Amino acid sequence: MRLAIDASHGVRGTTSPNPPVGAVILDASGAVVGVGATRPPGGAHAEVVALAEAGERARGGTAVVTLEPCNHRGRTGPCSQALIDAGVAAVHYAVSDPNPAAAGGAQRLREAGVTVSAGLSADDVEHGPLRAWLHRQRHGRPHVTWKFAATLDGRSAAADGTSQWITGPEARARVHADRARLDAIVVGTGTVLADDPWLTARLPDGSLAPHQPLRVVVGTREIPPTAKVLDDAAPTLVLRTHDVDDVLVALADQDDVLIEGGPRLAGAFLAAGRVDRVQAYLAPVVLGAGSHAVEDAGVHTIAEALRFRRESVETIGDDLLLNLIPRGIRS
Ligand SMILES: NC(=O)c1ccc[n+]([C@@H]2O[C@H](COP(=O)([O-])OP(=O)(O)OC[C@H]3O[C@@H](n4cnc5c(N)ncnc54)[C@H](OP(=O)(O)O)[C@@H]3O)[C@@H](O)[C@H]2O)c1
Repeated sequence: MRLAIDASHGVRGTTSPNPPVGAVILDASGAVVGVGATRPPGGAHAEVVALAEAGERARGGTAVVTLEPCNHRGRTGPCSQALIDAGVAAVHYAVSDPNPAAAGGAQRLREAGVTVSAGLSADDVEHGPLRAWLHRQRHGRPHVTWKFAATLDGRSAAADGTSQWITGPEARARVHADRARLDAIVVGTGTVLADDPWLTARLPDGSLAPHQPLRVVVGTREIPPTAKVLDDAAPTLVLRTHDVDDVLVALADQDDVLIEGGPRLAGAFLAAGRVDRVQAYLAPVVLGAGSHAVEDAGVHTIAEALRFRRESVETIGDDLLLNLIPRGIRS
């Protein structure tokens, strides 16, 4: 399952609206003979990719999959049938398919005499590679992460508006690696006008990563046609609205959406209760003046404070990364 999870992480951001699934085939002696992950929409599902690599060695073997094999004939045939046709004797999967159109794969496999078990490493998969896809299946909207960088005194830009860079090179490299696995990055017009960010995912050598998320700019002000975010390095959507739910409806086909700021857009998403996870980069830096990471999150008194619980804390170079989940939301 660890191998299947790693394979699925590698295709995150490239499979929407399909889930990023990983699959491993073991032969009858338990040796790994095939590893696969979901191809982009219209392409093969993970099980089919892994079975193709395994060939005849799958017969009498075991399939380990992060998601229940599907049972519907969409653009590709049902994976449950492909596993049966390949002669696989046992299937272990992590998470059941919540999509009624695709569920039923486990039952079909059992009816064909295949040994099936569910729940293997389910937590790691639910909170890992399938987190955003499962969120969209369950809530009908993308999974929203709000990411920001702040100083020890909670500033996200200096008094003159400059904010590049608050964090160190290791944290910035991590941000680029994460971007390459996202479906969309959202900023307000204020950030575009202040920073002219490119919002692309770059490799350590500065070149563009193979997968680029959709860039989204929200707000009513014009942004200059020369803005870097409008170049052809990646697609860009400009949404002339202040309504957070309008933004999420426009992004309804995306699973994994990142709000990169700035403070007013972040405040609007927090006030609307549309932040599902926070990634706070804290840098050992003091500015003493300048804007804060959030403006106007709809809190007027301490009883209304937005509170979060810690999912993990990582040290990245000189900085800390806090992964937080709003209280009341199951991650
Ligand atoms: N440290 C960090 O992590 C980080 C990240 C990003 C930005 N920043 C800093 O943030 C500063 C820019 O701040 P900012 O607040 O102007 O940026 P912003 O939040 O990106 O943009 C604000 C604009 O967003 C639009 N908007 C869309 N929906 C909105 C809503 N519901 N409520 C309010 N506004 C909405 C409005 O545009 P219209 O007025 O056009 O309608 C508003 O003026 C810069 O100094 C930048 O360096 C820091």
